Formats: sequence, C-alpha cells, structure tokens
Amino acid sequence: MEIFYCVVCSFNLVDVLPMDGLIISFFLANFNILIRPFPSTPMRRETLWISHYDNAARSENGKFDEISELDEEGDKETTAVSLDVNLPDDLLEIILAYLPIASIFRAACVCKRWCMIVHCERFLWTLSHVPPQKPWYFMFTSSDEPIGYAYDPVLRKWHSIELPFIETPNWFIASSCGMVCFMDNDSRTKLCVCNPITKAYRKLEEPPSLKISDYSALAFSVNRESQSYTVAIVKSKEVSGNYFQWDVSINIYNSEEVTWGASITEVLTGWRGGDESVICDGVLYFLVYSAGGGPPENRHAVIAYNMWSHDPEVGLARSFIQVPCSLTCGRLMNMKEKLVMVGGMGKVDRPDIIKGIGIWILNDRKWEQIGKMPHKFFQGFGELDDVFASRGADDLIYIQSYGGPAVVIFDMNEKHWKWAQKCPVTKRFPLQLFTGFCFQPRLEFGP
Ligand SMILES: *[C@@H]1O[C@H](CO)[C@@H](O)[C@H](O)[C@H]1NC(C)=O
Repeated sequence: MEIFYCVVCSFNLVDVLPMDGLIISFFLANFNILIRPFPSTPMRRETLWISHYDNAARSENGKFDEISELDEEGDKETTAVSLDVNLPDDLLEIILAYLPIASIFRAACVCKRWCMIVHCERFLWTLSHVPPQKPWYFMFTSSDEPIGYAYDPVLRKWHSIELPFIETPNWFIASSCGMVCFMDNDSRTKLCVCNPITKAYRKLEEPPSLKISDYSALAFSVNRESQSYTVAIVKSKEVSGNYFQWDVSINIYNSEEVTWGASITEVLTGWRGGDESVICDGVLYFLVYSAGGGPPENRHAVIAYNMWSHDPEVGLARSFIQVPCSLTCGRLMNMKEKLVMVGGMGKVDRPDIIKGIGIWILNDRKWEQIGKMPHKFFQGFGELDDVFASRGADDLIYIQSYGGPAVVIFDMNEKHWKWAQKCPVTKRFPLQLFTGFCFQPRLEFGP
C-alpha cells in the first residue's frame, strides 16, 4: 500500500511534492498530518498534484477545500493525525527531508520543534539518504552582474538567490551534486567551490600553469560518498605560428590532497580544445574542434581522458570519439554518470544554420540519439539566432536561447519536453543576452 502524507498547518498550501510512492502535501495550517494510500500511475499523480495546488492557491479564506475534496473521492482510509502529538522526531524529520528545499526553509519557521529538527546536524544526514531534489536552473538576468533567478522544477517557481564569489556571468561554471565551481574568465586563476543554497564557499589555490591560454574548459565532479571533489581545467594554446598545432594541457585538483596534480601536456595536430568539458564516472570528456576546417561532419570530436588510470603511452589523439553530426553550441553534461551531448543540428548544405536541437547519450563509445526538440518548442524560442545554452544534471536538461529568457526542459526519463514557467524578467534591450547553469539544490554538501 502506498502512503500519502499530508502535512497541514493553517491557511495556505505551501507545497505538494510527488515522490515515488509517497506524496507529501504541506499546508500552513494547524499541525495535522493526513495519511492515505495513493494511486500509483504517474498521470493520476500529476493531475491530482496540479488540482490540489491550484485549489489551495485559490482558497484564500483558509478553509480546507482540498481536503474535503480528497475525502469526497471516496477514500475511506484517510486518517488525520496531529503531527506534533503523534509523530516521533525521526519520522517528522524524514517527512521534512522529502519536502522541496524552499519548503524546508519555510518549515523551519513554522514552530520551534520544526526549526530544531531542520537545523540539527542529523537532518543533513537524513537529507543525504532521501532521493536528491530535481536540479534547478540558475539564469543570469544581467550581462555584467552575477544576478538572476533559479528555477525550481518541482514547485515550478523562480527563486531569487544570490551567488557567492562570482563577479560576472561570463565566468566558467561547472556543477556536481549540489556544489558549483566558478573560475574567472580574465586571469583564469580565481577559483572557488560553493554551495549556492547555503552560500558556503572555499577558494582554491591557483592552478599551476600560469601560461595564458587561448581556450579553457572547466569540469567539476563531487564524490557522493566521501564528499571530496575534483576540478579539471583543459587549456589549449596555439603552438606559435602554427594554427594546426595546439598545446593541450590538463590540470586536475583533488580536494583530498588540497592541491593540483602535475599537469599533462600534449600537442594535438589539426585539433584544438574549446570551453566545453565534463567529468562522468572518473573520465574527463572535452570537446575538440577541427583546426583546419575539414568536412562539416568532421569538425568536432570528444576526447575521453581517464583521470585515475590514464596510460601515458596512449595519447589524447587515440581517445577520440567522433560526434554524430555537425554541431552548433555543442554541450556536454553528466546525466547520472553517463555522458550526454546536446547540440544544434545543422542543415546538410549550410551546417551553420540549425534546423533542430538534438540530444545524444554515449554508450560504449557510440552515440545514441535520445531526443530531438519538437518543432513547436524550437520555434517558440522566436529568433533562435542559432546560439543557445544547455545545461543538465540528473535527468533534466535545460535549453535556453541566448536571445531571451524562455527555457525548455527535457526530462530524460519520461522523454518529455516542456516549457519552464515564465521567468520574472523580460528582455530589456535587443542585445541583452541570457545564460545559465544547472545545479542540484542540496543542503548537505559543502566545500
Ligand atoms: C570568456 O570570455 C570570452 C571573451 O569575452 C568569451 O568569448 C567566452 O564566452 C567567455 N567564457 C565564458 C564561459 O563565458
């Protein structure tokens, strides 16, 4: 039997959160908890969720319309119990841990007891044992200042949050498991790792090679068990006077050793690195671009570099993985430790004009296409100007045209496309650009 928990506590519905086999509704009213079996088909779940949510949002008089409605559905097993009296701390703690992160903050304001539970050290441990929250998308809304809003796909709301350390939106940004790594885009020596929810951050020492590079790419990976992390920077510099040869160097920082390892440098002929890289399951992947033009289907490739068991005899050039077609705005992302690539697919005769946006997953060094943006979404961007940002984590991919604040979300599990709620900002001048990054909201990970 599946269980439906409903936490009721005065006046407004705060949140309703569907999880596997468990639905928690969270109202700000008297402290009651409603436990009832819940139908398991996803469709049903979604419908109910929306109807609760809307009903409650509309009921301003503080009456529990939504609850009587549930009862009317003929469910005789519904039991309302007083949360404070009947629930032991550890069960209450688990219920609170399942709430969307924004509601956890609000729950802490409900009463002393909830506040103590949320701020207790053990709550962080409990959080690390419940399924992670859906990743959020932070969108910058100014081209000069690092200000913006973060989209929460569960509550379908934009939250205004401040980011620590970062000075402008054009810094390099990589995220993993609730933490985000920033690197400045001038000297490329200012680095920090932060948790954008708790605002805790730690500056990292400068990477060793101070040589100014033409291109840099930042990748970041957190180990869930040990909470240690790895930062990788791939730099590419033209060998002087020879556009076909590029010095590619890889620097890796390990938080357990609190230092940068020796850098690995190789000369690539005919290819250069760019600004796109990611770490999946101990392998650093980065996009490389043909330095000599070449046929369109051969302008990009991915290099796979195994960080923990790299054989120096096997050069980077031997770790090439071709990409399936000519790509614009190719992006790499770690989706549950699998490499996923998103890119604009060019027309056959005009590869610089994109006719759609595709999504591929890498299985055994072979790409499998798992999605293509439906035409109505693609058109919905308006002037796509063939540049767009895409970021993903877990099983959500966010895609946004640089030209506007509209965001499309692709759910890899359900193979489902949808628009994010409208962002509270609008485009203020024609050349205003928008970018963003994706991160999991988590309280329990810190630098
Ligand atoms: C870094 O700055 C360069 C030059 O302004 C820009 O082209 C590039 O997109 C920036 N990188 C990032 C990650 O924003």
